[in-house]
Amino acid sequence: MAAALQIQEFNLLDDGECDARIAAAKRLLGKRMVILGHHYQRSEVYKHAGLTGDSLKLSQLASQTEAEFIVFCGVHFMAEVADIVTDGRRTVILPDLAAGCSMADMANLMKVRKCWAELAQVLNPDELVTPVTYINSAADLKAFCGSHGGVVCTSTNARTVLEWAFKQREKVLFFPDQHLGRWTAWKMGLPLDEMAVWDFAKPMGGLTVEQIRKAKVLLWKGHCSVHQMFKPEHVDRFRKDVPNGRVICHPECDLEVCRRSDLVGSTEFILKTVKASEPGTHWLVGTELNLVNRLAEEMKPQGVTVQFMSPMVCMCSTMFRIDPQHLAWSLDNLVAGKVVNRIRVPAEIARPARTALDRMLSLAT
Ligand code: 13P
Ligand code: SF4
Repeated sequence: MAAALQIQEFNLLDDGECDARIAAAKRLLGKRMVILGHHYQRSEVYKHAGLTGDSLKLSQLASQTEAEFIVFCGVHFMAEVADIVTDGRRTVILPDLAAGCSMADMANLMKVRKCWAELAQVLNPDELVTPVTYINSAADLKAFCGSHGGVVCTSTNARTVLEWAFKQREKVLFFPDQHLGRWTAWKMGLPLDEMAVWDFAKPMGGLTVEQIRKAKVLLWKGHCSVHQMFKPEHVDRFRKDVPNGRVICHPECDLEVCRRSDLVGSTEFILKTVKASEPGTHWLVGTELNLVNRLAEEMKPQGVTVQFMSPMVCMCSTMFRIDPQHLAWSLDNLVAGKVVNRIRVPAEIARPARTALDRMLSLAT
């Protein structure tokens, strides 16, 4: 049997040559293959996606596809979700295995189990605490939630999910993104002094017994390295310079950035909102650079100005790992009957992870 094609050969191709190969492979594979693309993908890759979306939409699209192969232009946890929601019946491919998420890496099973055991020294977490994991997390953390009465959320449905979580138990442990957890709980009316940050590097999360007892939400000390670059002063400066301007950001931003923004929501929400705006609107957008640049180009002819929130480059370097070369490589291998970079979640993890994902998917957003 012929060996798989090597990525080294594809790394020598320019983007134009890759485009031609990708288009040819798409024609040959037809309905057997679908390319899913997250909104943060660079334009050179995004344009090849058959379906695009935010994390929630992509997980729903993955669960509904009839295609035999799902080529996921996104990051590792998204491809894992696609494998889990299709029960391993589809072949999910991540064109570059190095496309991870630095926030997802801030929590792992060992640290979450340690947290649960430490909480058990103060209260009974299985009776009192619903674990909620942001979808930006490894499959085994979703499995942890599934087997401890917990659930997954995305940036779109975090509020609905938290409301559900509080109906189950009186407290929530939210990981790995403290900012999404804080913003969502704050919007629900929870005072900040009923939220405590669980510092996983410290014994008992760095909290006293009283602080743990008082907290309604325990926020894991994780964050997105891209969204933490947006600062309240960026919004303040814009308000001064463009008094009639509108500000929109992703809920992974700091609470103060979210509070100063007119609107807060997922990447899908940001795209839909800005695209629906009146000519003459001037937007300040706090999310990843590739999305904002593409949106700015798209909206220019309609007289809508889209400005990036930070003076610094805030790009998701892991999303950027998927390039036309890796996409062409994975597709040409498929055409040749070879599967490279398949993402498979072992059944013993996939089963409870699916429970936590299904709880989320069954809630209306
Ligand atoms: P979305 O829920 O908008 O897809 O956000 C995912 C993400 O990783 C944002 O950083
Ligand atoms: Fe992860 Fe942040 Fe990149 Fe989103 S933008 S994938 S949270 S590192």
